[in-house]
Amino acid sequence: MLKLKLLLIVLVFAVPLPVAVGGKVRNHGLHALAEEEGVENILECGVQKGSSTAAFLSARPLRLHSVDITKKIGFVDRLERLAAQCGATSFQFLQQSSLEVKLKGEGALPAPDLLFLDTLHAGPQLSRELSLLGPSVRRYIVLHDTATNAFEDEGAEHYPDLKGYNDQTSGSSDLPSFPGLWAAIIDFLVAFPEWFLALRCFNNCGLVVLRRSESAAKDAESRRWLRTRTAWTV
Ligand SMILES: C[S@@+](CC[C@H](N)C(=O)[O-])C[C@H]1O[C@@H](n2cnc3c(N)ncnc32)[C@H](O)[C@@H]1O
Repeated sequence: MLKLKLLLIVLVFAVPLPVAVGGKVRNHGLHALAEEEGVENILECGVQKGSSTAAFLSARPLRLHSVDITKKIGFVDRLERLAAQCGATSFQFLQQSSLEVKLKGEGALPAPDLLFLDTLHAGPQLSRELSLLGPSVRRYIVLHDTATNAFEDEGAEHYPDLKGYNDQTSGSSDLPSFPGLWAAIIDFLVAFPEWFLALRCFNNCGLVVLRRSESAAKDAESRRWLRTRTAWTV
């Protein structure tokens, strides 16, 4: 009954948000990861019109921090109303760059159990995000558009608001030597062997799930579970 009520709330408040029925993250089953026991704090980078945000809210986590350089007023308002109606989640939209998020020290956000990265789909950007935020994440790092931009960087001209931010993604020797997201993912897995590739799928522009390793048995179980999700078949 509670689930039916929640579904109705999501449908009423999310329209015309693209929610689970639209948007490029459609069919990726993000809510299933967010619903897992122990996933209480979620940090989302890249909100736009809020498909992924609505999917996370539908899982009713304790806290959801959503970060974007651009605030799409009508959409963020709706997401705030949706969060209030669902009644379980402390939701906060932060207009800033993912590269300005603090997970340590004064004013830090809580260490996320799940980090979702869906900003500028370029190797240098992802590399910076992973090394800044990745080590503080407790369980999952989820990346979108990993098929579309596997070996090719998205151009920064897609996001005019990026001009207002310092470019921290060029001219450094620790950036991936190949374009695209995949080199950045591999570099991260090599540098942080406590993380493993739990799922890679190719539908809807591609999704990658990285998971912090617990034990060989639990990691294998996690891989199996992720693959049984029909929403993630390709
Ligand atoms: C692909 S869209 C996100 C889509 C969204 N996750 C969804 O499911 O609908 C990318 C978003 O990332 C934002 N963005 C680009 N670079 C960013 C950065 N460095 N920090 C935060 N947001 C950024 C853009 O403004 C844009 O809204």
